[in-house]
Amino acid sequence: MKIAYSLVTRRTFLNTLFGGWLVAFCGGSLYALLKFAFPTLGKEPDFVVLKTTDFINIPPNSVKPFAWGGKLGLFFKKENGSTYALKGVCTHMECNITYKPEDKKFYCACHKGWFDDNGKNIDGPPPKPLEFFEITTEGEKLIVAKKGIKVELPKA
Ligand code: FES
Repeated sequence: MKIAYSLVTRRTFLNTLFGGWLVAFCGGSLYALLKFAFPTLGKEPDFVVLKTTDFINIPPNSVKPFAWGGKLGLFFKKENGSTYALKGVCTHMECNITYKPEDKKFYCACHKGWFDDNGKNIDGPPPKPLEFFEITTEGEKLIVAKKGIKVELPKA
């Protein structure tokens, strides 16, 4: 039996097919060009060096942001005065997290994920704890590094 008419003509079908292929081709080419021009794009550093005085005097039960490559890093001082540095990115789909001082927890607004003040995932979709870094100081320098990375700064 022959269909009398169709909502999709042969021309529309072929145009859609060709258009989709063209978009995929251009997108792939642009991505390859950007990766060539900026090879470190999206890569995380092993460590960052900050100024100690900018971070060490923040009030207890608060955070101060810093740049961890192209991502958010958080310097965190607990209520008891102990200090930490962590990646301020949710372990679910990498949204930035915020610290809720009134709850003493980290919160991800993207899908309502919660982490306690030790970075443990306690509610919502995040599958694993937050990533904490190691902190060392060298004079005025505050060195924040991934765990297990040995940092040797050039001697001035
Ligand atoms: S990205 Fe944080 S809960 Fe989904």
